[in-house]
Amino acid sequence: MYWLGLDVGTGGSRALLVDEKGNLKAAFTAPHEDMRMERPLWAEQRPENWWEAAQQAIRGVLAEAGVSGGDVRGVGLSGQMHGLVLLDEHNRVIRPALIWCDQRSQAQVDYVNRTVGKENVLAFTANPVLTGFTLPKLLWVRDHEPANFQRARKLLLPKDYVRFCLTGEYATEVSDASGTSMFDVVMRRWSAQMLERLRLDPALLPQVYESSEVTGKVTPTAAAATGLAPGTPVVGGGGDQAASAVGNGIVEAGLVSCTLGTSGVVFAHMDRPAYDPLGRVHTFCHAVRGAWHVMGVTQGAGLSLQWFRNQLAPGTDYDALTAEAATAPPLSHGLFWLPYLMGERTPHLDSAARGGWIGLTAKHTRADLLRSLLEGVSYSQKDCLDIIEGMGVPVESIRASGGGARSAFWRQLLADILGKRVVTLASQEGSAYGAALLALVGTGVYGSVPEACRAVIREVDSVLPRPHESQLYQRGHEVYRALYPALKPLYGLIQNLQ
Ligand code: XUL
Repeated sequence: MYWLGLDVGTGGSRALLVDEKGNLKAAFTAPHEDMRMERPLWAEQRPENWWEAAQQAIRGVLAEAGVSGGDVRGVGLSGQMHGLVLLDEHNRVIRPALIWCDQRSQAQVDYVNRTVGKENVLAFTANPVLTGFTLPKLLWVRDHEPANFQRARKLLLPKDYVRFCLTGEYATEVSDASGTSMFDVVMRRWSAQMLERLRLDPALLPQVYESSEVTGKVTPTAAAATGLAPGTPVVGGGGDQAASAVGNGIVEAGLVSCTLGTSGVVFAHMDRPAYDPLGRVHTFCHAVRGAWHVMGVTQGAGLSLQWFRNQLAPGTDYDALTAEAATAPPLSHGLFWLPYLMGERTPHLDSAARGGWIGLTAKHTRADLLRSLLEGVSYSQKDCLDIIEGMGVPVESIRASGGGARSAFWRQLLADILGKRVVTLASQEGSAYGAALLALVGTGVYGSVPEACRAVIREVDSVLPRPHESQLYQRGHEVYRALYPALKPLYGLIQNLQ
């Protein structure tokens, strides 16, 4: 018997199968179409393409494993967070989804702050409203595409659109709902106050479940499309970060992870919902009942490397790029990369921030460019960690995951820059793996998420910070931190040029 985890990521959808002990049987990734970026800092994807990729990934993993749909006992979903999917009365997608890194909605953020009040937003949702979150994206559609807004009958998050295609149910779960700015994170339910003050119809929103609860069953039509058996239960799952944390066993106090995907996230478990008074890190419901988490987000982590490859080294694989980075010395001959390719969340909360290299000279090589890029992303993750530690969260070591953490070079760099032991787990699968574990819990194989994690997750390797390099990077981080405030006045000017 097997359980299937499906992660609807940004670059692709990944399905995997595990047995009841959490052993990985097979995995299959179906790539997504590239994000559509009609203007700088805009980002859209087609939800229909996610569903196509999901079908491909599920069929692909079943074929790869030689497993029939009837042997799959449960499905868990995870996905990129915050994206806005709008369905009309016939359940057709109204327009492409504005996804997590889309930054067009600053005017709507300002409107929410004026209308509801900044303090109230924090009290009602435990977080400031940000351009990355779902609410301002919805209000952007209301302001700029009123006909689309009027046709909308349901709002879904990315993985929950795939859930709708699989089960016919409009449902989400607490961890992903937390990133909408319409959710009462403390009480784990939609925020009536936010909806009332913004005159939004609560009927637009799906039903909310806990992450390991069953939200519906695979329909006969979806079964025919995917190869799963009709009636297979689908559990809530989690936003990609909460699901990845489950996959990394970050389900008890004291455990912290760093996930280097398209975005980069430092994530810590919390037994109670505490928040940073400046709102620089997010306080969201965890995919564990009665638990919360705090996370800091670098918008352009793996995205920085992907951008570099696409623009400056087409066709080169990521291993070759990190190997090239390793040939440059620490601090990259005084070159700094600012990873603000899609604005920045932690610590700046600035949708207008722009990326770039500072300190370039004629001596610099492509290896320096690459190394500085990995260093810049890691400094940004250090900014996230510093805030989380500043909130009193204990951090003994960091569990690394995501595509970036597959590089031993980047793991050592992280250890040196974060100043912490960086641990690798037996399963490197992150979000899709966490989603499968939630399905194991939701179908009763384990009594709770921590119980499942204790049973299946193992640390296999770790690297320690090297004192000399750590000292160099402490000085590097000081310079890095001084760059954003110096450049901030210019970002506004650049935006006004457009
Ligand atoms: C988390 C976030 C990203 C996206 C894409 O707040 O925006 O993790 O979910 O991975």
